[in-house]
Amino acid sequence: MLTVALPKGRIAKETLEIFESIFGETFAFDDRKLILETENFRFLLVRNQDVATYVFHQAADIGVVGLDTLEEQGLDVIRLLDLRRGVCKVAIGMKVGEKLDLTKAEIKVATKMVNITKRYFAERAIAADVIKLYGSIELAPLVGLADMIVDIVETGATMKQNGLEVVEEIMESSTYLIANKNSYFEKKAEVLDIYEKINDVVKQEK
Ligand code: PRP
Repeated sequence: MLTVALPKGRIAKETLEIFESIFGETFAFDDRKLILETENFRFLLVRNQDVATYVFHQAADIGVVGLDTLEEQGLDVIRLLDLRRGVCKVAIGMKVGEKLDLTKAEIKVATKMVNITKRYFAERAIAADVIKLYGSIELAPLVGLADMIVDIVETGATMKQNGLEVVEEIMESSTYLIANKNSYFEKKAEVLDIYEKINDVVKQEK
């Protein structure tokens, strides 16, 4: 039996569809239920930011989560496979027409992704004032809270609608299958079996 942590929303849906195509049966949570048990799997429905936490503490053996979230959280889990879904970028956005000037004395950056942002500027030896926000990041430069933002860009529509544009890409992200380190050894056959089956599905789509 493998316990699988899935992030509520589109990724959980897409992952369950992969399982359905592999096993030829329906995998669906009952209304509001957070656990789904089948013959060989126990699926947990958690918040996106909590997936790696469940896996790291071995409350789940495997999980599915965005690379951006993994990089931001830095939890020690095994990255098994790129599922090639949820493709997006982490990028710096500024008001249209403004230029990224890294020589400026004081740079204020608003973001949800404080660690990725701090790392990006530290690697360039730039002292940036990183302001943590929890959402609606695009608003920050419009009202003078920050000079720029670091945020997820998928279609680019949110930035565009708010008069912002990407001035620099920090990283590409997509959804990854991850595993707990102990589970990977203790349940190696099971983990590798599902890894291979999912890999076959993902490869076929190429
Ligand atoms: C992300 C991000 C942007 C938006 C970008 O937020 O913070 O606001 O998506 O997508 P786009 O380029 O396709 O417009 P998300 O929808 O993940 O919600 P959140 O702020 O609650 O995390």
